[in-house]
Amino acid sequence: MDHYAVIGNPIAHSKSPQIHAAFAHQTGQQLSYGRLLGSLDDFAADVRAFVADGGRGLNVTVPFKQQAWALLADRTPRAELAGAVNTIIVLDGGLLRGDNTDGVGLVRDLVGNHGFDFAGRRVLLLGAGGAAHGVLGELLAAGPGSLTVANRTAEKAVALAQAAGGDVAGCGLADLEAQGFDLVVNATSSGLGGGVPALPEGVLAEGGWTYDMVYGDGPTPFCLWGEGQGAARTLDGLGMLVEQAAESFWLWRGVRPSTAPVIEMLRAGT
Ligand code: ATR
Repeated sequence: MDHYAVIGNPIAHSKSPQIHAAFAHQTGQQLSYGRLLGSLDDFAADVRAFVADGGRGLNVTVPFKQQAWALLADRTPRAELAGAVNTIIVLDGGLLRGDNTDGVGLVRDLVGNHGFDFAGRRVLLLGAGGAAHGVLGELLAAGPGSLTVANRTAEKAVALAQAAGGDVAGCGLADLEAQGFDLVVNATSSGLGGGVPALPEGVLAEGGWTYDMVYGDGPTPFCLWGEGQGAARTLDGLGMLVEQAAESFWLWRGVRPSTAPVIEMLRAGT
């Protein structure tokens, strides 16, 4: 039976095994999918050992996505753009290819699951770390009216925007006053400490949506911020998690699972 795993550190709380087990059951694919606690000082050795044991593919999560990118010479264009690899495909002969399904997962959740229309919309991405870098290219490819990346440390947002090409603006958080965005995506790690980025008044347009790339058992701090701002929709990252997994599953197995029942299952906590 083909074996897959998610590698991260920490890894105990990863929902990926549950998601891929549900996909496999639904599509009748024979596979197993486990969790791997990656070692912080030798990620490459863990990947090599997994492949030597006959593993067919890995999902890579925090904090190894950039290391995975650096480790693999064969990277898809979207992984290249993301500066990170979240999916490793073991090709015949044991060669490894790195891809990144995070950005497409975010856009599919917004567009496919929630009906967001990017055309003409003013989109703001908050954060300039690995998570923001990982989805910026796909947000741009979704064809918004404009795309701005803003960060607490402004220079990092400016650099990230420049690297993405002339169509992205970069600035500090304070520069966002009264800009009225139709969609604000949180890719900062501020929620880990229970906070939200310090945003000035008028960042969200009337009828605007907020999207937090993380999720929790209840509404995240950023979802609560969106509610407080009168957002029309306040979405968390559970749908993105399942969509990026579905894209990985498709890369490995050539079969596209239905995501809606799996999102529903996780939302219900079963
Ligand atoms: P990740 O891989 O999750 O993106 P990271 O690369 O360490 O993690 O980046 C964390 C991001 O969250 C950065 O953009 C960081 O802003 P700075 O570059 O100014 O450090 C942002 N961040 C973290 N805590 C934040 C907070 N309390 N308010 C605003 N931004 C925050």
